[in-house]
Amino acid sequence: MQVKKFFVSKDINSQKQFRRITIQATEILEKFWWSNPKAYISKSPLKNFFIPAHGEHLSAILNDVGKNIISAGINPSNPKAIGHMHCLPTTSSIVTELLIGATNQSLDSWDESPGATYVEQSIVQALCKLIGLPAKSSGIVDSGGTMSNQTAVLIARDWYVNQELGVDIKKRGIPAKALKKLKVFCSTEAHFSIEKSVAICGLGTDAVVKVPVDKSLTIDENKLEQMIYREKKKGNLPFLIVATAGTTNAGNIPNLSKIAEIAHKNKAWFHVDAAYGGALVFSKNYKPLLKGIEKADSITLDPHKLLYQSVSCGLFLLRDQRHFEHLSFHSEYLNPKDDKTKGVINLVDRSMQTTRRFDALKLYVSLRNLGKDGYNALITSTIQTAQQFAELLKADPNFELATQPQTNIILLRFIKDGLNADQLNNINDKLQQQLYNSGKIIFSRTKIKNKVFLKATCMNPLTTLKDFREILKLTSQEATKLVSST
Ligand SMILES: Cc1ncc(COP(=O)(O)O)c(C=O)c1O
Repeated sequence: MQVKKFFVSKDINSQKQFRRITIQATEILEKFWWSNPKAYISKSPLKNFFIPAHGEHLSAILNDVGKNIISAGINPSNPKAIGHMHCLPTTSSIVTELLIGATNQSLDSWDESPGATYVEQSIVQALCKLIGLPAKSSGIVDSGGTMSNQTAVLIARDWYVNQELGVDIKKRGIPAKALKKLKVFCSTEAHFSIEKSVAICGLGTDAVVKVPVDKSLTIDENKLEQMIYREKKKGNLPFLIVATAGTTNAGNIPNLSKIAEIAHKNKAWFHVDAAYGGALVFSKNYKPLLKGIEKADSITLDPHKLLYQSVSCGLFLLRDQRHFEHLSFHSEYLNPKDDKTKGVINLVDRSMQTTRRFDALKLYVSLRNLGKDGYNALITSTIQTAQQFAELLKADPNFELATQPQTNIILLRFIKDGLNADQLNNINDKLQQQLYNSGKIIFSRTKIKNKVFLKATCMNPLTTLKDFREILKLTSQEATKLVSST
């Protein structure tokens, strides 16, 4: 092993060698970009891994990684990769990842990352402004939607119990008078991380009241009001209402203004989980779907979904940044109390994490590189193309949609007269698996009201209408084969 200048490596110890190795990594990427949505893979790409005693040459390892590991993955740049919410990252995000990894800033405290602290805060402020949050708002970049939802549940719980029951949970724990009474309301289509967060916050999953959805597969606001009323009558305490703006299954968005009104009328915290749909603030055509998001007390927005960032890049936004106090702890070595009076920004005061990547940098570079018009084009065009795909499916008697899509997620299933519900579920299950295993099309799979649906997350800007026609043809052919073998 050698340590020379800035290189800690077995064999890379000059700028020339470093450049050469980064070119090799780029060449591996280029091959990957041209590959299928997914390679056929039936077993682990690693055979009996053992840690080598003396280290191997980096170039040889990278060749092996390219040939055997990367090639065994899902390729988000292939037009037929339309499974989950993982995007083809912007080019700026990809190249900035190298800088983030190599410069290794950690966003805990100002003295560890002075420039990075200001950059993160600047882009957070810019996004708060774009959404329409007030000047007192702020936020934090985190690892994704799960972390942001966890942060929201914790802050909402502590804020409510402090305000309504006069107890500081951070110091004294959850008081007996609140236990088993605190209730969170979200739809049956909310992301599971809400329920998980409630459990982690010590309230138990029984504290989650799941409100039915309407035909758009978003929360039924009338039922929400009725269920809040019912819980209050039982003496329970509705402290948090969650609206999912861009549901994980269908991508649809409820009436956020109405839900804000219900939450605030009931003195509850209003959290908008806009992990997926929050990016629509950049789309001139579709931003109106988010009307009311500016009334949120907190927002989850995942740039690693529809803002096309490499994993991971999440955002948690807070209407009133003073509420970060519920997360704030001090230590002399990192963020001493008197730093606050001196005006020093230590972002660890706002985060569940301590060491934290400078993921804000890739978003900053992407926002500058694409601009508002670039993001508008990306988001608007993927939604429009997805909706054309939905129209093709609607015109085909062998397919049905779970709901009318508002964004770029389409839930489709193969149907055929004469087949019962179980047979159709079975066929759609196998259809997704077979297309996946063959590497022809990557759909994900979900269930809506006991029916199996194929989920097409059509956020890939390289997927054209022509691709969607092919996707439909291939899916039909595969389904027909499955019917004949039933
Ligand atoms: C609405 C919603 N919220 C939260 C999450 C969790 O996000 P992450 O996977 O980034 O933790 C997802 C993920 O799909 C989601 O769709």
